[in-house]
Amino acid sequence: MSKISVLFVCLGNICRSPTAHAVFERKAQERGLASVIDVDSAGTGDWHLGAPPDRRATAAAAERGYDLSALRARQVTQADFNQFDYMLAMDSSNLSDLSKLAPQYSRTNLSLLLDYAPDSPVREVPDPYYGGNDGFARVLDMVEDACDSLLDHIETQIQE
Ligand code: 4NP
Repeated sequence: MSKISVLFVCLGNICRSPTAHAVFERKAQERGLASVIDVDSAGTGDWHLGAPPDRRATAAAAERGYDLSALRARQVTQADFNQFDYMLAMDSSNLSDLSKLAPQYSRTNLSLLLDYAPDSPVREVPDPYYGGNDGFARVLDMVEDACDSLLDHIETQIQE
């Protein structure tokens, strides 16, 4: 069985995409899919390269049992477009930046993460960086919901 690879992308790779990375990884483990799914996260920006996730994101995730402590920020590269089956942008600005960076031909499925959450009333995971702690809990709510739906989708792909 070939592996499915997933890259979560936000702006800084210190708040939303590391959160999605850890949530998705654990949910994949819970479904017994850890050995067939590769997960990573990256940012379109380069301000935080090598930095751990934002303290507020780490704390909010820890409250729900997710461990972000080992993650370090990196920037998206053109090679990612041929290495990952799915590249999932948190907001439209991330998606637009990724579209500009994309090589002419690539194998990835580029979309918004919330495209996989059809019941979500919004299409974007909002940037919590300049807001309060409730923004981080909201990110987790949205990401948990979308990761469940994304895993449903990927399970159907694996079975094909
Ligand atoms: P993220 O949040 O894209 O979810 O990691 C941000 C982190 C840092 C900045 C902006 C957004 N920043 O401007 O440094």
